[in-house]
Parts: sequence; structure tokens; C-alpha cells
Amino acid sequence: MAQAGVDWPVSCRNGTCRTCLARLTEGTVVYDVPWPGLSLEEKRDGYCLPCIARPASDITVLPG
Ligand code: FES
Repeated sequence: MAQAGVDWPVSCRNGTCRTCLARLTEGTVVYDVPWPGLSLEEKRDGYCLPCIARPASDITVLPG
């Protein structure tokens, strides 16, 4: 987010605190860690953790 110039709340920056929780409304993201701090249901509902997610396309997110 910061690299894109977006002011977004962050704390741990490692996927554990969920301060950055966002809802993906367009596009997809991928993670380098095997299981980011999201439940399967949250992932299915489009939630993501921008501090550790890498966009796999153009994305649009809303605060979680
Ligand atoms: S800043 Fe802690 S999970 Fe993203």
C-alpha cells in the first residue's frame, strides 16, 4: 500500500496483527507465506492482509 502511495493502517507488517485487514473487491493477491492470518471463510469472502499480500493483478480494496 505504501509503495502505491496509499495511507493504510499497519502495525506488525508480518500478517499476524490484522491491523491492515482489507476486503478485495477487484483482482487477486498471492502470499509468500503458506497460511496468512486469515480464516478460510475470510479468504473466501475476499479479505486480505495487504502488508504481506502481493497483487497478482490490478486490485481494488476497501478497509476490512
Ligand atoms: S499489519 Fe499486521 S497483519 Fe498486516
